[in-house]
Amino acid sequence: MALLGAIACCLLLSWHCPAGLGFPGPAPAIGQFWHVTDLHLDPTYHLTDDHRKVCASSKGANASNPGPFGDILCDSPYQLILSAFDFIKNSGQKTSFMIWTGDSPPHVPVHELSTDTVINVIANMTNTVQSLFPNLQVFPALGNHDYWPQDQLPIATSKVYNAVANLWKPWLNEEAIGTLRKGGFYSQKVHPNMNLRIISLNTNLYYSPNNVTLNKTDPANQFEWLENTLNISQQNKEKVYIIAHVPVGYLPYANTITAMREYYNEKLINIFRKYSSVIAGQFYGHTHRDSIMVLSDIKGNPISSLFVAPAVTPVKSIKEKQTNNPGIRLFQYDPHDYKLLDMLQYYLNLTDANLKENATWKQEYNLTQAYGIEDLQPKSLYELAKQFASWDSKQFIKYYNYFFVSYDNSVICSGICKAFQICAIMNLDHTSYRDCLKQYYIK
Ligand SMILES: *[C@@H]1O[C@H](CO)[C@@H](O)[C@H](O)[C@H]1NC(C)=O
Ligand SMILES: *[C@@H]1O[C@H](CO)[C@@H](O)[C@H](O)[C@H]1NC(C)=O
Ligand SMILES: *[C@@H]1O[C@H](CO)[C@@H](O)[C@H](O)[C@H]1NC(C)=O
Ligand SMILES: *[C@@H]1O[C@H](CO)[C@@H](O)[C@H](O)[C@H]1NC(C)=O
Ligand SMILES: *[C@@H]1O[C@H](CO)[C@@H](O)[C@H](O)[C@H]1NC(C)=O
Ligand SMILES: *[C@@H]1O[C@H](CO)[C@@H](O)[C@H](O)[C@H]1NC(C)=O
Ligand SMILES: *[C@@H]1O[C@H](CO)[C@@H](O)[C@H](O)[C@H]1NC(C)=O
Ligand SMILES: *[C@@H]1O[C@H](CO)[C@@H](O)[C@H](O)[C@H]1NC(C)=O
Ligand SMILES: [Zn+2]
Ligand SMILES: [Zn+2]
Repeated sequence: MALLGAIACCLLLSWHCPAGLGFPGPAPAIGQFWHVTDLHLDPTYHLTDDHRKVCASSKGANASNPGPFGDILCDSPYQLILSAFDFIKNSGQKTSFMIWTGDSPPHVPVHELSTDTVINVIANMTNTVQSLFPNLQVFPALGNHDYWPQDQLPIATSKVYNAVANLWKPWLNEEAIGTLRKGGFYSQKVHPNMNLRIISLNTNLYYSPNNVTLNKTDPANQFEWLENTLNISQQNKEKVYIIAHVPVGYLPYANTITAMREYYNEKLINIFRKYSSVIAGQFYGHTHRDSIMVLSDIKGNPISSLFVAPAVTPVKSIKEKQTNNPGIRLFQYDPHDYKLLDMLQYYLNLTDANLKENATWKQEYNLTQAYGIEDLQPKSLYELAKQFASWDSKQFIKYYNYFFVSYDNSVICSGICKAFQICAIMNLDHTSYRDCLKQYYIK
């Protein structure tokens, strides 16, 4: 009876059960984890007749069509974030962990925030997750907005690193807390019984607007630490998931612009190539858009799959035409070798949620089904990207609609727009990216 009770309880609170652990019986055939990113809580969000005053993140512009779940010119109201986590909680999906790749504070001018307000927002988000999911293992990464002043994440300990080290103690072991406190990064095995390690990088140190790291060859010695960590993982026959906020590679909507300084991008790419047999997946945020990348070795063979998750915040600036609907995602992996099998993207139709005053999160797409591919292995994504490249690819039209989380399916991306997308998906280093653009006659 006691055992039955334990199993029923475990099934009821299904996200509490690590894959293959928790109760007797065979390991499940499939492992799962959530990825959430770019929550960007705006605590000032409230409905009022004066639309300039709805949220500080609209920066004086009139909110466009504000409702209880937000507005496209505003960062997330607390209600929107809660609706996302409530959906996760009630989804019935069994998962062994969650990754959370940063950016909790709102997009507001620097003087409207402070170190304390930034820490308070991160604490609010952390406490929200911890109280909704008391037994869920979460692996966070810091974002460029998780600091004050924004983007200026330092190379030594700081008030913010200390604060998050304390806030994230329920999730992380002592060694992880130690490096987090010093440099904003850490690594930890997902579970002592699993041969899977999370490496949470502080790629904000490499972000172009970070003045603290100008001219530094190895800020906070993170490259050295990363190589060591991957080397030891290789020796211990572990697999690694890389998680970070600012992604490697080229921005898919721009010509020859990396999110990181180019020098750091090249360095990271080289490390990821050297250890591609250890790295089973890479997960990022920051762009607020849904995109994939495939890293190839110097001979052009695909060796690593990278996934950039769309944001929960729907915010856009007044100048931008497009934005994203709020999104969260679920990954599936093989619990024997941690190979990625599939991804389910969920979204909230913000217009509809506000209209009905009811946030109904839905599946947007199933990655293997949407594109007719077998799994999420580098080879599968590479072949898919080659299909995207053909001039009339219906697959690419789909991809571009998902890029904005189905915000506006009438947008088209052809010519130069498409060349930038394709080259960014398939080429992460300078040389191959330039060669790709030349193929499309772009200088
Ligand atoms: C987080 O902040 C919101 C307001 O923005 C508040 O309603 C909520 O109670 C806070 N939650 C926690 C756990 O601090
Ligand atoms: C905001 O909307 C109000 C009322 O429609 C209008 O008078 C005002 O000029 C608008 N302000 C801005 C900054 O667009
Ligand atoms: C960073 O450096 C740039 C260029 O020197 C400068 O314009 C900017 O104000 C600096 N930002 C901060 C936050 O120090
Ligand atoms: C970085 O290096 C450049 C070129 O060597 C130099 O002009 C600049 O002053 C340096 N900046 C800092 C912050 O050290
Ligand atoms: C890992 O470290 C060992 C010992 O320092 C070294 O011999 C080996 O070459 C390293 N592996 C790689 C792939 O660099
Ligand atoms: C979102 O909801 C609006 C309003 O109900 C609707 O017009 C639109 O087609 C929906 N978008 C999608 C992608 O379902
Ligand atoms: C919201 O929508 C769901 C699904 O359509 C429905 O079950 C629920 O009752 C609705 N809630 C409210 C408050 O209208
Ligand atoms: C995606 O769809 C395919 C085909 O219907 C199915 O086999 C697979 O299990 C689905 N993936 C997920 C994660 O539900
Ligand atoms: Zn962000
Ligand atoms: Zn960011």
